[in-house]
Amino acid sequence: MRDAHEPTPTPDRREVLRLLGFATAGGVAATVLAACGDKEQDECEPCNCDTGTGGTDDTSHGTGDDTGDTGAPMAQDPPWDYVELDPDAVAKRAYEAYYQGGCHYAVFEAIIGELQDKVGAPFTQIPTKMAIYGKGGMFGWGTLCGTLNGTGMVAQLLSSNAANIVSSIVDWYSNNELPDYEPEEPVVDFDCPTSVSDTPLCHVSVTRWCLASGYGGHTDERKERCGRMAAAVARKLAEVLNEELAGNPATYENPDEVNTCLGCHGDGGIRDVVLTEKAPTCELCHFNLASEHPDVTR
Ligand code: HEC
Ligand code: HEC
Repeated sequence: MRDAHEPTPTPDRREVLRLLGFATAGGVAATVLAACGDKEQDECEPCNCDTGTGGTDDTSHGTGDDTGDTGAPMAQDPPWDYVELDPDAVAKRAYEAYYQGGCHYAVFEAIIGELQDKVGAPFTQIPTKMAIYGKGGMFGWGTLCGTLNGTGMVAQLLSSNAANIVSSIVDWYSNNELPDYEPEEPVVDFDCPTSVSDTPLCHVSVTRWCLASGYGGHTDERKERCGRMAAAVARKLAEVLNEELAGNPATYENPDEVNTCLGCHGDGGIRDVVLTEKAPTCELCHFNLASEHPDVTR
């Protein structure tokens, strides 16, 4: 209970910023302060930027003209300029990175790392290890597959068409026999079976592969499968980004049957209880619908 606590003495804001080494007017510093945990709101008040989830018209953040005390400019808002990458080099880098920091890091490091080598700044300002958290569907929670989480971070940074890039890759990931990547120098040398996930969820995707292959979830073979998956997704992402650069932006459409479900269960439907706007299939989880869906035609 917050009320029971003595208020923690708060150092002067400028002093905090100086200690943290941030520019006084920088968005990063403001975000850090805005996020100052369990302190009373008015102790943390100094952020006057929009910390909500919506957009902001405040152009003082991320325009590159704010040099603050440190002389280091704020990074530009996305999208940053992408240059063509070799999908096979990206895949190999992802495969190797997987064994350093997991699936999310693998995809993020593969693309951003290649851009760091090819372009340099501003990509060299990004610590790709920030992506480690996404492994195992976020530190083992089995939610979004880290390879797709990494795809999202990369797409959002490099394209104004991120939603379609992400959706098209989730669709490809969910509906194909994967992984389809063969390392030249495998860490675990075996004939890696493939499976179709039907979903972007780590837990379901991995478990389906385990059931299809006969390998356990904690075996070296399963890890190898996820490393190859990271390579496959990173290569696909590089291909999609290259296509976009060549003037062919990604597109995505829900399958008809999903749109049918959402016609009643989505926005404005007669039984609007589903927030999902896109899905490879609804029947992944609602698999008895054919026999069990209530008759709503009467
Ligand atoms: C014509 C409109 C309509 C369509 C299309 C439709 N639903 Fe429904 N659905 C309903 C209504 C209305 C209910 C609530 C019925 C009730 O409470 O008796 C319902 C109930 C459900 C339930 C709860 C089932 C239960 O046992 O109570 C699930 C799950 C569901 N729908 C999923 C789906 C999925 C998945 C699809 C697409 C494959 C779909 N629905 C298509 C109207 C629709
Ligand atoms: C990853 C698994 C998963 C997927 C995919 C999924 N659902 Fe669900 N859905 C659930 C779970 C879990 C619940 C909660 C059921 C419960 O508590 O009884 C639920 C609840 C629902 C309900 C309310 C059921 C009720 O009792 O009234 C509807 C309607 C529904 N889902 C429709 C959809 C539609 C439409 C899609 C595709 C766009 C979809 N779901 C995709 C897992 C899923």
